[in-house]
Amino acid sequence: MSMKKRVTVLGSTGSIGVNSISVIDSLGEEFELVSVSGHGQWQLLAQQARKYNLEKVVITDTRNLANLEKELEGTDTEVLGGPEHLVDLAVDSDCDILIVAIVGSAGLPAVLGATKAGKTIAIANKESLVVAGCLLMPLAQKHGATILPIDSEHSAILQAMQSGQRNEVEKIIITCSGGPFRNADDAQIACATLEDALNHPTWNMGPKITIDSATLMNKALEIIEARWLFDLEPGQIEVLVHPESIIHSLVEFCDGSVIAQMSLPDMRLPIQYALTWPHRRPCPASRLNLHELGHLTFEPPDKNRFPALKLGYEVAHKAGTAGAVLNGANEACVEAFRKRQISFTQIVEFTDICLSEHNFIEKPDLEQLMQSENWARQKVLELVSSVQKNPDKMKNSPQSTSY
Ligand SMILES: NC(=O)c1ccc[n+]([C@@H]2O[C@H](COP(=O)([O-])OP(=O)(O)OC[C@H]3O[C@@H](n4cnc5c(N)ncnc54)[C@H](OP(=O)(O)O)[C@@H]3O)[C@@H](O)[C@H]2O)c1
Repeated sequence: MSMKKRVTVLGSTGSIGVNSISVIDSLGEEFELVSVSGHGQWQLLAQQARKYNLEKVVITDTRNLANLEKELEGTDTEVLGGPEHLVDLAVDSDCDILIVAIVGSAGLPAVLGATKAGKTIAIANKESLVVAGCLLMPLAQKHGATILPIDSEHSAILQAMQSGQRNEVEKIIITCSGGPFRNADDAQIACATLEDALNHPTWNMGPKITIDSATLMNKALEIIEARWLFDLEPGQIEVLVHPESIIHSLVEFCDGSVIAQMSLPDMRLPIQYALTWPHRRPCPASRLNLHELGHLTFEPPDKNRFPALKLGYEVAHKAGTAGAVLNGANEACVEAFRKRQISFTQIVEFTDICLSEHNFIEKPDLEQLMQSENWARQKVLELVSSVQKNPDKMKNSPQSTSY
């Protein structure tokens, strides 16, 4: 790589966004940060704009636009307000690599735009693939876009896949820490509080993915993400609980060889691999010392205690509008759980109800995907409101004591 790569980070104020900027920094001359977006954290956006003398900054929550404009007065940075400008940044011909680190399906329009513009997209925003993988992957092929995973499991799969030909892959094994409730029984899970759910044992991440990791909905989303990214049948995707989060995933080839990617849990490594792919560069993340570690453990996942996994497989099989419904329902449920309106187990329970009740479309267009997602969000609001009208329905109150 001789020419400088110009990078845009959407969601630069979040956990992946901040790590992405530190990776770009540590890579030195080869990469240059040119534009960023954030939603609410205007002060951090302003700091990033000043530090890197950025060309453009988008703030999607326009309530903070005036503050950001004032903060960046007199600088060369162009300040834009509103979600529509995410697509402008994504398709900008001056951007070589787009990192999408926005949380939720709010990232989808930018991912779609960049895909149609034939860009290289380093994607952390798994929700876009879950909602619209059925449209995105064919579009990427048509327009010559490259979609590279940042998710550590999918990065591991991409890395392990370099050991053979695509048609030699028999199956993939996605690892899973098990989250904070790995050893909890049904009763303990049923009265899990928000604080319990936010207490992830191995990864330090944004709140939405942390809660998804507690319900194991994150693994469900990852099964669907892997199905689209690597064009696999759901039967080729296994989940393995591995509490130490050292093996990030494995690929089994037709000769029985299983190739694993291992490293300490640090998102800077998969972010960097997406930027430098197919090459490798030195990375500041701490190195693995297997001798110190001693041993690694593995367990089968428990689909009864964590029913989200069943939903992941169901949606990966059905495809069509099922991913949009799963994602819309889960996002709305996580929001309600964070507001303490529903209990922990109701997140998956309500998502399941949405999946059972929605009008499935096998080959949807974008509008139908969006309608299905919105329908699911609406349906969750109805379920939440019925819980609020009848508090008895809120079994296992999220206010209850932590176990
Ligand atoms: N964190 C991890 O280790 C990790 C690992 C693998 C995959 N991922 C995936 O990466 C994505 C980001 O996760 P995260 O943990 O970095 O989340 P996060 O810390 O909550 O950051 C989310 C980012 O999205 C922005 N944002 C929030 N709502 C938005 C909206 N409506 N429109 C546009 N931007 C919005 C936030 O802006 P403000 O902060 O300015 O409000 C922030 O920049 C998720 O899809 C997650 O599943 C994360």
